[in-house]
Amino acid sequence: MSKKKWTAVDNYLHSTLVPSDPALDAALETMQRAGLPQIQVTASQGKLLHLLARLQGAKKVLEIGTLGGYSTIWLARALRPGGKLITIEADPKHARVATENIARAGLSAKVEVRQGKALAILPELTGPFDLIFIDADKRNNPRYFEWALKLSRKGSLIFVDNVIREGEILDTNSTDPDLRGTRKLFQKMATDPRVIATAQQTVGSKGHDGFAMALVIA
Ligand code: SAH
Ligand code: DHB
Ligand code: MG
Repeated sequence: MSKKKWTAVDNYLHSTLVPSDPALDAALETMQRAGLPQIQVTASQGKLLHLLARLQGAKKVLEIGTLGGYSTIWLARALRPGGKLITIEADPKHARVATENIARAGLSAKVEVRQGKALAILPELTGPFDLIFIDADKRNNPRYFEWALKLSRKGSLIFVDNVIREGEILDTNSTDPDLRGTRKLFQKMATDPRVIATAQQTVGSKGHDGFAMALVIA
């Protein structure tokens, strides 16, 4: 199996189960035109986040790492009436593009884009959030996980993107701080009695990667 096949299967899924719409298309187009990196979740992953937020009956969602707001739109559309999403983005240009995309999707009233480094903004937030999506600088994953727990309730879901990185996660000798951050995250998820966690490796148009998920039980 090759990335070409994975991409073809993603295209099939997206043309059947996961149709796009003008707001999502415009978001991707705006991001590309603005020269943002093409590292947003795929459509089927976006819809998975959407389903998880619905399963949670989410009224409060936190996202760490906005980029152009693509995953934000998927998540915000799942909010129950009166719900709110806070998304944190360090890069001012990314935050600006995201704000524009969120407005075009008609979600400005529900979404607050907070521009700044996540570790500076997280202490200002009030929980509990029903779902927390961690998708920023991977070296800080252990710290984001700690904050996610602080901002959780029993039943909150913590979802972390990009935890496999083409299998690089296996490299115990790596000095890459992002990789070490994610390995440390796994260690925390495995040993912290406050969560039940698992992870899934994925293939698709974004290559071989994966996500981790933790349910807060205490
Ligand atoms: N969730 C987005 C993709 C996020 S990409 C989607 O799937 O659509 C990761 C983002 O995290 C980038 O925009 C990057 O600028 C941002 N980022 C990196 N370090 C950060 C930090 N310390 N605090 C907040 N955002 C950060
Ligand atoms: C990168 C970050 C992401 O959030 C992602 O989904 C893919 C790649 C990166 O920093 O390379
Ligand atoms: Mg990601």
